[in-house]
Amino acid sequence: MAVSYEKQKKIFKLDTEKSTYLIGLSPEGYVGHIYYGDRLNQNVDNYLLRMEEHPFIPSVNKREKSAFLDFYPIEYPSGGVGDYRESCINIRNSQGCMGSEFFYTSHEIYKGKHKLEGLPASFGTEEEVETLDIHCHDEILHLELLLSYSVFEKENIITRSVRIENCGQQEVRLEKIYSACLDMDNEDFEMISLHGSWARERHIQQGRLHYGKQIVSSARGESSHQEHPFIALVTPGTTQKQGKVYAMHFVYSGNFTAQAELTQFDSVRMVMGINGEEFSWRLAPGEAFQAPEVVMTYSGEGLGQMSRSYHDFYRNYLIRSSYNHKKRPILINNWEATYFDFDTEKLLDIAREAKKCGIEMLVMDDGWFGHRSSDDSSLGDWFVNENKITGGLKNLVDQVNEIGLKFGIWFEPEMISPDSELYKKHPEWAIQITGREATQSRNQYVLDLSRKEVRDYVYECVAAVLRSANIEYVKWDMNRQLSDMGSTYLGREDQQELFHRYVLGVYELQERLVSEFPELLLENCSGGGARFDPGMLYYSPQIWCSDDTDAIERLLIQEGTELIYPLAAMGAHVSDCPNHTVGRVTPFETRGHVALSGTFGYELDITKISEEERSMIPEQTAMYHKYHDLIREGDYFRIASYRENHLYDCWASSAKDRSEVLVTYVQVLGQANCHSRKIYLDGFDPDKTYCLEGTDEEYTGELLMKAGFLIRDMRGDFQSRLYHFIVK
Ligand code: GLA
Repeated sequence: MAVSYEKQKKIFKLDTEKSTYLIGLSPEGYVGHIYYGDRLNQNVDNYLLRMEEHPFIPSVNKREKSAFLDFYPIEYPSGGVGDYRESCINIRNSQGCMGSEFFYTSHEIYKGKHKLEGLPASFGTEEEVETLDIHCHDEILHLELLLSYSVFEKENIITRSVRIENCGQQEVRLEKIYSACLDMDNEDFEMISLHGSWARERHIQQGRLHYGKQIVSSARGESSHQEHPFIALVTPGTTQKQGKVYAMHFVYSGNFTAQAELTQFDSVRMVMGINGEEFSWRLAPGEAFQAPEVVMTYSGEGLGQMSRSYHDFYRNYLIRSSYNHKKRPILINNWEATYFDFDTEKLLDIAREAKKCGIEMLVMDDGWFGHRSSDDSSLGDWFVNENKITGGLKNLVDQVNEIGLKFGIWFEPEMISPDSELYKKHPEWAIQITGREATQSRNQYVLDLSRKEVRDYVYECVAAVLRSANIEYVKWDMNRQLSDMGSTYLGREDQQELFHRYVLGVYELQERLVSEFPELLLENCSGGGARFDPGMLYYSPQIWCSDDTDAIERLLIQEGTELIYPLAAMGAHVSDCPNHTVGRVTPFETRGHVALSGTFGYELDITKISEEERSMIPEQTAMYHKYHDLIREGDYFRIASYRENHLYDCWASSAKDRSEVLVTYVQVLGQANCHSRKIYLDGFDPDKTYCLEGTDEEYTGELLMKAGFLIRDMRGDFQSRLYHFIVK
């Protein structure tokens, strides 16, 4: 039983294999947080709520209710009534005043998990997940609050979500609604977050908590390149293998806040939810609002365990694509090969050459529609440009299929170019503040997806193209962030709903797409990796990781991404050199080894690269087929980080039964007098003996992990190797 309730002590106990989460009720019905950490197997108690320490428990002494509220470890703090730490919910009543307070009314414990209406969320059968729903009530505003906790025992994951319903007669305004809160005592915590920029997404950042609030957030309308909806609090000295880790990750693709606050009493409040900035939702009588899901995990065994918990969880309970547990076709994308300068013949030339090398799919990127020959026109006009695609799309797809390749296509459905037929017809469909010229970004505006007619138009355009030919893959791009948040459709009172309504619109579109085309391989993308988030993962089993395809820059981007995402979710390609983003030249082999950790594919003009490089592609495609099952389904171990040592990077994929381990080693910089480097491997069975493929060397797992493995004879910069160990 993952969830239990001890009636006498009023304690809810949520157990995973390795963790326990305890919730307690105060005499008044405040839902308090008792404990989260290593699994507890004996009787539990609620003394950690520290009720007896406090002289001003509201039901006993009202004199200092605020002192109590500002101290009490609570599961879901509401704003306006005296808890001055970060609140999770702010509600303004019909008189314009902000304040609410929620007390426990009842609960249910059941097997399985409900869907979250209109939102992506994890799922599981009655055997796999158990849920606790705690119902709370604000008796003044007549609001019902539902706090849901779903426990995935095997994966050590607890998901949380919140729903509020207006059961009163008056309209209220929801000005903030987060999805999770964790009140803890400070253990000298450090906060890990993932920050970045275009072409530099998800770099790991770590720093000690200081008094006050440390926030990562996005107000850009998407999860963004700049910040990521993830934070972890770790105890000092946490490594891959040891230390306590408390992590939260948000299943949402829009504005978010993730925050840790170190308070006056040395407690820490960790929260996550939709960003309250420019968010306000009108909740009329009878209406409800569902906040998205937070995926929470605790690891008492360092960051490695956290990563593996997230990887398993997302692979098993969030990604719903039929490609989830399947090899993806090795694709070649024409973006870096041709940019906008292509036509049918050029694409067929690439396809013919690609086929010879074992590549399995051609993806036609941006520039095939309207009159688009640079990034300044035609978004919204999803009609094939027959000047480029002579003979039409079906003809091209059929010919590519005849060559023996699958066919994929690029869209940017959420956008509208000022220079487009669509804009001429419907300028009011662009997000804009009436009377103010909207800000362009990459020469484009964003469509107002809060409008049903816009969503229907966009969907029909995309679907009509997909119905017209044998298209098996879609890259769904989004190349600008949102600004000028105004809708010509929403009323004055509802304008601050636009950010969230937009995200709901994107979700509705992708839901329709994967429902009508269940076998379609969908890859989400946003100016590289700006919408790499669990919300998108629900619809697409892979997401383009970054526009930076340089093998060395990718080490940092992929290390940050792999911290929480399964490797096969990372869109990763081999591209041409000098690299188009950083100008670096790296060996073709290294580019292949780094891309192998992701979906694997090519992003270059295969008809123009050197014969030497082209001749390496068949080997690389064979390498993909050999290792992809292991990489996709195996356990990930981070062994060394170039971010920390500035010299080399190393990681491994290990089969669940430890029968084989693939180690990838990248020597970023060569070093004088370094003839061999010892590294401590991980992911082996200590009691088994392994052969190193291609050699006659044999090692026990114990030796490799405790005594170390020697990387020998590596000279030069940007060199890489794969080491494949197979159990004897
Ligand atoms: C974004 C994507 C690229 C490419 C271009 C096309 O930047 O990340 O891969 O598709 O758009 O405009």
